[in-house]
This record gives sequence, structure tokens and C-alpha cells, in this order.
Amino acid sequence: LNSEVGQLIGLYEDAAKLYHHVLMNTQVGEAALTYLHQRGLTDEILNTFNIGFAPTEGLLKPLFEERHVDYQLLRTSGLFIENQDGQLRDRFSGRVMFAIRNGSGKVIAFSGRLLVKDPDAPKYLNSPETKIFHKSETLFNFDLAKREIRKADAVILFEGFMDVIAAYSAGIKNGIASMGTSLTTEQISILQRVAQTLYVSYDGDDAGQNATHRALSLIGSHSNMQLGVIQMPEGLDPDEYLRKYDATQFRAVYEGAKETPVGFALRFLARNRNLDNQSDQLSYINEVLKIVAGVNAPVERDLYLNQLATRFNLDKASLQQQLADVSQNQAPIP
Ligand code: CTP
Ligand code: MN
Ligand code: MN
Ligand code: MN
Ligand code: MN
Repeated sequence: LNSEVGQLIGLYEDAAKLYHHVLMNTQVGEAALTYLHQRGLTDEILNTFNIGFAPTEGLLKPLFEERHVDYQLLRTSGLFIENQDGQLRDRFSGRVMFAIRNGSGKVIAFSGRLLVKDPDAPKYLNSPETKIFHKSETLFNFDLAKREIRKADAVILFEGFMDVIAAYSAGIKNGIASMGTSLTTEQISILQRVAQTLYVSYDGDDAGQNATHRALSLIGSHSNMQLGVIQMPEGLDPDEYLRKYDATQFRAVYEGAKETPVGFALRFLARNRNLDNQSDQLSYINEVLKIVAGVNAPVERDLYLNQLATRFNLDKASLQQQLADVSQNQAPIP
């Protein structure tokens, strides 16, 4: 464990403990603790997720220097920012600290959330890439969720850390999140190894819907997992939904509101269209039929045709006729 990797992991473990201690037991952490309690996080959850606080005055630098930790190690650790004179200062300050763990539960990075809104600083700040932190292959909460994912043979992909934590506290423990950036193919292959089914549960706002659309096509083209979408009502994100309602209603959404990727695409296509006007209706129906033509299961195709027939008060036979035309004019979807 004297390797650079071992030493870095030691530093991160110590940093996580310190941040957590500051949050739970000190006066400088008090405002952050109140904030987190107000967001509904219990002490038990704060402990489970090793959540902490990085005070504004800097915390790690004096401590690691006092311990005579090697300067080169500190420089490359990603825990500090270096100025022109080679002076280091704590990278994270005034932020609620989420410990990012690797698949075996070792802390390898942090994501810090601003406690006080600041238009000049990003809401979330992540650790930089290091010898131990490779963002593209890291999934938040994967170590804790792994067992539940295998048991359910399903994984839920959330947009934010707070959504993963909200779901966990409502008893849904097979949730993970990518690292603030869009999902990567490496993350998809990690998930494919442990689950047959993946549900995308991004935020209900426009950004979340666009990201859902992108994630579905990326996962669809890089894995053969079964896909579904679970979206919170009212444009909320999962964490907001849990706060506004309760754990029972939250779980009910997860049990009841699963959409197929095509069902999602139909809703997604309808956005920003004025479906009261006939030319928009016709172009919408044509777009939908192109998607439905790519569905292999006859019953599933039928489901969408019924939906269209009802929604636009159409004869199903003419929809079937047009679907056949669309299918003929369209190269099969690979
Ligand atoms: N994110 C980021 N940098 C930002 C904003 C967001 O890296 N400036 C990432 C974070 O990982 C965040 C995710 O994108 O968790 C989703 O963004 P958003 O929905 O805005 O954040 P929430 O998770 O809802 O955060 P909170 O509830 O704390 O506001
Ligand atoms: Mn603790
Ligand atoms: Mn969002
Ligand atoms: Mn959100
Ligand atoms: Mn949120």
C-alpha cells in the first residue's frame, strides 16, 4: 500500500473523514448540517453516504502539512489548487462534500455542492482526473447499489447525487448516477455486466428530457439491456418529488410509471408541437409511425397504434395501412 495509488486512496479516506467530522460535529459545519437536514437528509443517511462539509477557511492543507505528507503527492492529489508560486490551497471550500467511491467502496474523488448560491461559481464542483479517479468509468453509489442491482436484475440511472440519495432513503437502493457529465460507453458496459434492465430516471424538466433522449439512444446502441423510462410528474426531479410528497408516493411512481423507450419517444416528439392543428398532427403521426415501424414485437406495435387511434380519433385500419407503407419505405433499423 505504499504505491502512489495506495497513498492517494489514504489521503482521500482521511479527507472524507475530516469533511464528515466537520459537518457532523463542529460549529463551522452547522449551517451546512441545517441545510442538509432541511433537505430531508437524516444523520443516518449523512453517515451512510459519508457526506461532509469543506469550510471556507481551508482544512486539509494545514493538516496534511503537519503530517509531513509529501508535497508532490499533495500536488497530484487533486485535493488542492496550486498558484503560480507553487503554493497549495484547498480546492473545495464552502461546499457540501459528496464522497465519490469506486466499485470497492474506496473514496476516490469528491463532488462539492455550493452551500450558498454564487452566480460566478458552478453549483457542483468535481475532483479532477487523477491516478485513482477516472470520471468516465465512475458511477456514483455503484458500490452500495451493486447487490441490489443484481437482486433486482435492474438498475436505475439518475441525473444527480441527491436523486440517488433520495431514492435510497425511500427504499429504492438500486440507483446510481453518472458524474454530472453525460453517460459514457464505459459506464454502460459496467452496468450491462450486472443488470439486464436499465431505467432512466432523469429530471422531469426540459434538460432532463433531452438528456433522457440522448441516454436512451446511446445505451440502445452500446448494449442489449432492456430499457425503460421513469419520469417524475410535474417536471420535478426525484429528490424534489420525494420532498413534496412522501416515500410511499415516491415508490408508487417507481412501481407504476415505467414507460417504454418508444412510449417516451412519443411523448418527447409531441413536445413543442401544436397537436390541435392538422398539419402538425399529420407530421407527428408520421414521425411516430416511423418509430413504431422499428418495433419488432407485434403486440407492442399494436399498443402504440391503439394509442394513436384513440388520441386522434382515427380508424386503426388506416393507421395499419400507413404503417405498412412507412415500413416498406424505410430501411430496417439495425
Ligand atoms: N451538475 C454539475 N455541475 C453543475 C450543475 C449540475 O456537475 N453546475 C451535475 C451534478 O452532478 C448534478 C447533476 O448535474 O447532480 C444534475 O444537475 P441538477 O439537476 O441541476 O442538480 P441536482 O442534482 O438537482 O442538485 P440539487 O438538487 O442539489 O440542486
Ligand atoms: Mn459518521
Ligand atoms: Mn437537472
Ligand atoms: Mn435535478
Ligand atoms: Mn435536485
